[in-house]
Amino acid sequence: MSQQGSCDIGLIGLAVMGENLALNIASRGYSIAVFNRTTSVTDAFTAGRGRQPNVVGCHSLADLVASLKAPRKVMMMVKAGPAVDELIKTLTPLLSKGDVIIDGGNTLPSDTDRRTREVEAAGLLYVGTGVSGGEEGALKGPSMMPGGSAAAWPLVKPIFQAIAAKVGPKGDIPCCDWVGPRGAGNYVKMVHNGIEYGDMQLICEAYWLLKQGAGLSNDELAAVFDEWNRGELDSYLIEITRDIFTVRDPETGGFMVDLILDKAGAKGTGKWMSQLALDMGVPSTLVTEAVYARCLSALKDARVRASSVLKGPDMFNRGDKAAFIGQVRQALYASKIASYAQGFVQLAAAAKEQDWKLDYHSIAMMWRGGCIIRAQFLERIAEAYKAHPDLENLMLAPYFTAALADAQTAWRHVVATAATIGIPVPAFMTALAYYDGYRHANLPANLLQAQRDYFGAHTYERTDKPGTFHTEWLDLRKPVASSGGKA
Ligand code: 6PG
Repeated sequence: MSQQGSCDIGLIGLAVMGENLALNIASRGYSIAVFNRTTSVTDAFTAGRGRQPNVVGCHSLADLVASLKAPRKVMMMVKAGPAVDELIKTLTPLLSKGDVIIDGGNTLPSDTDRRTREVEAAGLLYVGTGVSGGEEGALKGPSMMPGGSAAAWPLVKPIFQAIAAKVGPKGDIPCCDWVGPRGAGNYVKMVHNGIEYGDMQLICEAYWLLKQGAGLSNDELAAVFDEWNRGELDSYLIEITRDIFTVRDPETGGFMVDLILDKAGAKGTGKWMSQLALDMGVPSTLVTEAVYARCLSALKDARVRASSVLKGPDMFNRGDKAAFIGQVRQALYASKIASYAQGFVQLAAAAKEQDWKLDYHSIAMMWRGGCIIRAQFLERIAEAYKAHPDLENLMLAPYFTAALADAQTAWRHVVATAATIGIPVPAFMTALAYYDGYRHANLPANLLQAQRDYFGAHTYERTDKPGTFHTEWLDLRKPVASSGGKA
């Protein structure tokens, strides 16, 4: 029999994230009621890691709801999608006015928009919160990005900020703050994941350049990433990459990384970010290339067949190894700046479209610790947005403008080298193309507009006067003297 009405929060779904989050909540002194659809999972948890006086196992949703103090807070840690709607449907009649339903999954922001409206219409409050940091983060302190019903924030804030990772000189700034209405929190988490895709792809490209291009061994790669982790690239993803290069397979003794099949999986948040960027006409090219790179990697059989047919250059960079390592580091850093710039630009575009007021300084601070993209340089991003809350593009913040200017010779060299020796670096290339595209006052889209107008009368604007114009290209064109193929 559960303790009626004494628990601070309820949690549904005891998979890896749910279980660890429950333990985190309990470790901060809150009492928590837990429920899993499969009763044996709940029982195993409360008999094992969750065997604590402030963890109460429940065998039904009614039991879970009855265990909670009012206003009740129920957090769903279940697979994003229809399961969330089903749960809300079952929970709603069990709850009372002012109670809060929380979704901690990687949910599509538009689903949270709809659910916030539906749940609010039923007299309840709704929160869709991004939770990042994987298993360890969930247990010790994740980054949390909550959005939804504003009235729910004071109710969930103490628990959320208590369990979140902490940063700052005194280690007391929680990586969790209110993001905005409806799906704003899930949107910020989706962009976090898209940036995560970009970071991971860039790191993989750096790895491949150093391994295939410069012939570094796994031990050398571990040393390089260790060094990189002490400079401007200092981040969780660089740190775990360093560690990965040190791990050997207990069975064969070979390096684990060399035994893993090069076929990447994905759960969809990167694709969502890319799709939503396309819908808004925002160039989030890093995440898009990162998603495509995963798609291409998954075509393993086709690649194996093509590898004996399609020819490329001899894959080796014969330049100075140490210099090349330094250049790849700079290229990685510059590409990362372009990637984060794109992420924040997409957030600003979404905020405009959705009528959210996003605080980019606060978002950078939420990502500063706990989450997968946590990095030293998020501190610089936070500072940039603190100084200029309406910064149009991160690349225009003086610190990053200077960093890009500093890195660009190396960046160009790395991209050019990759093309010359035939190593695919789509993320490095698109990052540089974005930088070059963004910094040019003029682009060849004048010709593109002329082509559109020529074949489809799509009209164009002019540089010398306002208005919309169309030209009868066929009537005005002139015969061209053939060059005979010679320039
Ligand atoms: C996090 C991660 C996490 C995500 C995984 C897997 O912030 O903790 O972003 O939410 O689900 O990284 O994502 P993919 O399977 O799409 O790579």
